[in-house]
Amino acid sequence: MSGEIVSAKIDRYLAGLRRTDDAVLAAMEREADLRGFPIVGPLVGRLLLTLALASGARRVLELGSGYGYSTYWFATAVGDGGLVIHTDFDADNSRQAAAYLTRAGLGRRVRFETGDALDVLRKEAGMFDIIFCDIDKEAYPEVPALALPKLRQRGLLIFDNALWSGRVTTGRGADPATAAIRRLNTELAAREDLVTTILPLRDGVSVSVKR
Ligand SMILES: C[S@@+](CC[C@H](N)C(=O)[O-])C[C@H]1O[C@@H](n2cnc3c(N)ncnc32)[C@H](O)[C@@H]1O
Repeated sequence: MSGEIVSAKIDRYLAGLRRTDDAVLAAMEREADLRGFPIVGPLVGRLLLTLALASGARRVLELGSGYGYSTYWFATAVGDGGLVIHTDFDADNSRQAAAYLTRAGLGRRVRFETGDALDVLRKEAGMFDIIFCDIDKEAYPEVPALALPKLRQRGLLIFDNALWSGRVTTGRGADPATAAIRRLNTELAAREDLVTTILPLRDGVSVSVKR
């Protein structure tokens, strides 16, 4: 997927710089390869860790957490006493995430919520330092109105797949997922209460800071 955005040559170069000796992370990446499961991958994972550390994040809400790969990066960042809320409507994903994060010694930093991530977002009081969204793309345009009241000032609202393999460049006749991401990107860019940048890393990551 990333080949559409970042050239294969650059992608290989970036991947080659990376070193990890974390066995749990490696196991989660192997599982993604085996199952063809769309985790954010190591380059975006490290970006999430960077943003969380730089912003001093202690409370993170994830929308669409799968079996916990992106959760792992946030849980690393928030430190002891910090909280990451993992959400997924697939109970098997939640169970598996709990097992991986416990194995990594990070389980105490994570609360697991099985169900619709948007319902969790509606019911959580906040405030959050980071809200990260990776749910079904058709629902992306609903997120800003629900998330921004729960995000602290200078907090980060982050979306994965902001460039959707380059399909966002197609306007007329776009499929529903592409059309939804395009609507979201247009709204984020236009909002005066946010400063938004789309980073063309992997499949595109949109990062908005709340003013
Ligand atoms: C792209 S995967 C998430 C990958 C994860 N962020 C990672 O990098 O490891 C999307 C996940 O979101 C879940 N999902 C999609 N829409 C959802 C929703 N509205 N509520 C809860 N989970 C949702 C799917 O079950 C799937 O596991």
